[in-house]
Amino acid sequence: MISAPRLSLSDGSTIPQLGIGTYKVPADVTAGLVAGALAAGCRHVDTAALYGNETEVGEGLRASGLDRDEVFVTTKVWNDDQGFDQTLHAFDASAAKLGLDRVDLYLIHWPIPSADRYVETWKALVRLQQEGRATSIGVSNFAIPHLARLRDETGVLPSINQVELHPRFPQNELVDWDAANGIVTESWAPLARGGLLDEPVLAQIAEKYGKTPAQVVIRWHLDRTLVVFPKSVSLDRIRENGDVFDFTLDADDHARIATLETGERTGRDPSLD
Ligand SMILES: NC(=O)c1ccc[n+]([C@@H]2O[C@H](COP(=O)([O-])OP(=O)(O)OC[C@H]3O[C@@H](n4cnc5c(N)ncnc54)[C@H](OP(=O)(O)O)[C@@H]3O)[C@@H](O)[C@H]2O)c1
Repeated sequence: MISAPRLSLSDGSTIPQLGIGTYKVPADVTAGLVAGALAAGCRHVDTAALYGNETEVGEGLRASGLDRDEVFVTTKVWNDDQGFDQTLHAFDASAAKLGLDRVDLYLIHWPIPSADRYVETWKALVRLQQEGRATSIGVSNFAIPHLARLRDETGVLPSINQVELHPRFPQNELVDWDAANGIVTESWAPLARGGLLDEPVLAQIAEKYGKTPAQVVIRWHLDRTLVVFPKSVSLDRIRENGDVFDFTLDADDHARIATLETGERTGRDPSLD
């Protein structure tokens, strides 16, 4: 059974350190995968309005039979819905699709600096948290200047920053800044969308522990106190990805994985939008 520890957030709540991602999980298999992952012990699901599967995530949550408070659910406001009023409407739409009156974590999906609406959008998230509709609030794809601007203009820093992060693109400076400011960093594309897994270094470390390359990479995130939610359409791989709590990597493993850094992203640079 998947049994992830929880990390504390600056707002006093906690988050399971491992969950499942649902980007590009087709809607017609989402409910079954979510219910299957929850039956396997997973307690954290990451979705977004963009993914087009919030309704089916909600179906999976209800099919699991678990109490609402046992599962941590994240969704995100999409770029087209930024702005104070638009964000409040977008939240209502996401909550209705999920079948929830409260989400555990609501994120601004991308800053889109050229649109210059992320501060107003953030104020809407602060309102949603004050109303108890979002237990925790955060951002995604925010760089240090975007985070500093939220702090300076609203006095409220996010509890979470969800960014692209994997051994090829470890984001060391941002992770340190987040930690120094009480922000927990979440890794999206934690497996570099699968493109990293044939690296010989990972195969060698995997052999040492009797694990798979994917499990080694997931353990690398957990050892760095990051939150991680690999995506898979296979329940077997979801179970594999969750079977990572019986080993840790040593300093030599971390040094070898650090050699995989290339600075390559799988997605776009959010500062350039
Ligand atoms: N905030 C953002 O802007 C943002 C952007 C992207 C993603 N995300 C979130 O982060 C989550 C994870 O990122 P991601 O989906 O982009 O990429 P990822 O989790 O790094 O990689 C997913 C890929 O790895 C494969 N995979 C998964 N487990 C595997 C295993 N054990 N062995 C071999 N291959 C495996 C999957 O294939 P199969 O499905 O065929 O197993 C899929 O092709 C997303 O689902 C989403 O929730 C957020």
